[in-house]
Amino acid sequence: MKDALIDPFAREITYLRVSVTDRCDFRCVYCMVEDMKFLPKKDLLSLEELDRMCSAFIELGVRKLRITGGEPLVRRNIMSFFNRMTRHLDSGALDELTLTTNGSQLYRFAEDLYSAGVRRINVSLDTLDEQKFARVTRWGRLKQVLRGIDAAQSAGLRIKINAVALKGFNEEELFTITEWCHARDMDLTWIEVMPMGDMGTEDRIGQYWALSELRDQLAQRYTLTHLLERTGGPARYLRLEETGQKIGFITPLTHNFCESCNRVRLTCTGELYMCLGQEDMADLRAPLRNTADSPKALEEAIRKAIRLKPKGHDFDYSRQVISGQMTRHMSHTGG
Ligand code: GTP
Ligand code: 5AD
Ligand code: SF4
Repeated sequence: MKDALIDPFAREITYLRVSVTDRCDFRCVYCMVEDMKFLPKKDLLSLEELDRMCSAFIELGVRKLRITGGEPLVRRNIMSFFNRMTRHLDSGALDELTLTTNGSQLYRFAEDLYSAGVRRINVSLDTLDEQKFARVTRWGRLKQVLRGIDAAQSAGLRIKINAVALKGFNEEELFTITEWCHARDMDLTWIEVMPMGDMGTEDRIGQYWALSELRDQLAQRYTLTHLLERTGGPARYLRLEETGQKIGFITPLTHNFCESCNRVRLTCTGELYMCLGQEDMADLRAPLRNTADSPKALEEAIRKAIRLKPKGHDFDYSRQVISGQMTRHMSHTGG
């Protein structure tokens, strides 16, 4: 057994998020500009290279793999990559193989994902109103996503809905979305909108809806209990006592959870980002491609990168100016 990956703040890295494409069939307003420029396909790691990269991390103690994008299910032949990863579940090296998706292609892939060993998936969905959905995703169609969610549940996949909290947009749907998730036995997590990517003229502070406010609104209708349980992710949970429903909150702006960070992010070109909210990254593509002459080179490059993991991000809206803003788009690192 090799030594675990431990960063300078004594955090063990056991969770790898892998963005397999920067492309997406939606253009969510908080994520992309409409005429987004994508990477040339030739810069992407091949599926075989992604396999070698992920396998190297797994050998170094990564136990959870989350596939992201862009939209991971628009990458050509992506199911063959999931099928390759199944062997790590079978061997017991990996505890979980999962993905975060916009749901648009789930109607095609739900059963194959289940067969590959995926059991839980996160689906991004900010509104249940068709027109509002078209507005926030620009190119998305709600019906197609709902069909995908149906297919995923029929295939036996457990679903967590991720909703980005947007002031004046889905505020009024707080209870509708909560009740809809409960009725369908799906988990629900609200995410504070983060300052990622240059979105031109859009006013991010206007969009920002603090989750503490959202919690106060929930408290008007439900008895809330704060739960201490952790799932290894950044979410903190509340239980609605009247229904027993559990709701997650991801609050990078109002409550920083970096001290327990266990993750790093690989982009589709083989860059490793050590923190979602910092620019530090290491190129792993070159050492991956050179492993022909030295199989140790990749392992050493990974260890060296982990030694550079920063303590945390600097997102902050508190002074009504945006600080800590990243020029990188969320689709680059997959959230
Ligand atoms: P589980 O805990 O396994 O359900 O996954 P997750 O919440 O880590 O994954 P998901 O892809 O659903 O993440 C939801 C969103 O949380 C991401 O897209 C980010 O917006 C945010 N997020 C996840 N990890 C981090 C993190 O390390 N730092 C910050 N600031 N935000 C994160
Ligand atoms: N702030 C917060 N969440 C975001 N996501 C995309 N961009 C942002 C942002 N700027 C979310 C998506 C999805 C996840 C991968 O990241 O809605 O749930
Ligand atoms: Fe695509 Fe997700 Fe970004 Fe929306 S948030 S544009 S679905 S990658």
